[in-house]
Amino acid sequence: MIKRPRRLRSSQAIRNLVRETVLHVEDFIYPLFVVEGENIKEEISSMPDVYHFSIDRLREEIMELKSLGIRYIILFGIPNHKDECGSEGFAHDGIVQKAVRAIKEWDPEMFVITDVCMCEYTSHGHCGILTETGYVDNDKTLEYLTKIAVSHAEAGADMVAPSDMMDGRISALRQGLDEAGYMNVSIMAYSAKYSSSFYGPFREAAHSAPSFGDRKTYQMDPANSDEALREGALDCEEGADIIMVKPALSYLDVIRRFKDNFNMPIAAYNVSGEYSMLKLAVKNGLLSEDAIYESVMSIKRAGATIIITYFAKELARKMKGC
Ligand code: PBG
Repeated sequence: MIKRPRRLRSSQAIRNLVRETVLHVEDFIYPLFVVEGENIKEEISSMPDVYHFSIDRLREEIMELKSLGIRYIILFGIPNHKDECGSEGFAHDGIVQKAVRAIKEWDPEMFVITDVCMCEYTSHGHCGILTETGYVDNDKTLEYLTKIAVSHAEAGADMVAPSDMMDGRISALRQGLDEAGYMNVSIMAYSAKYSSSFYGPFREAAHSAPSFGDRKTYQMDPANSDEALREGALDCEEGADIIMVKPALSYLDVIRRFKDNFNMPIAAYNVSGEYSMLKLAVKNGLLSEDAIYESVMSIKRAGATIIITYFAKELARKMKGC
């Protein structure tokens, strides 16, 4: 009888030698929520250990990330003022624009990614401009998304991440950025973004739940994965630098299909619901902390080399042994 599989697990040394997947702190992108105001560091009730920061309090967080070796962040802004066309989203002094400038001043090496979407900025909470009948007007929205992306690039963002799911947004953004002289600002496309219940805690955090209806007309049906490949192929053709699957854990098969079909860097968003579910289970003693490592590892094993996760800090601490 051949005992090879068991032999390869027989000591820690050999387990390390044959290990196929290793998490690195460079794999992680840490999401940050920025709000207007002063001296605010407020825990988001639906997401333990995740906070809303005003810009003045963001500095200490950036320094902590730096000390943990986390060099990639994605910013979400929560403006005070919302209107029909989400004008704070592309304002020179918008919350994200101010935050990017401040971060680049404190830590020029921090790689700053910005979420490009309208739902946090529109009074109706949808991800675009609405027609009179209440539908999202795809092509009109593209003009606004481009303005938002260019304003983020102007503020110093290294990468923009459109999460709106409008058709044609990658080529619109690429063209807009190039024309404004930002050829080196890259685009991470939320290519397969599912209409998922796992965004619940985020919507509370970002005050971005739609005031009527849902996002089913522009986000993907969880039942489909061939469609994800069509979306991914379009984004690659349109010039995306990185393609993303979101959420991650219920869509590991989609991550794997992306990996096998596209010769591209694949990102996965380990979303708020996935975070809170596990975090609360660990906090309440139902699961050991190791479950966090295991589940984030599964995202990498599935094929994502870039993982956007609210667990980045605790994983980085664990990896540093502190
Ligand atoms: C939209 C956006 C959402 C998330 C990231 N960008 C919410 C949505 O589509 O409703 C969700 C992220 C998470 O749940 O952690 N701007």
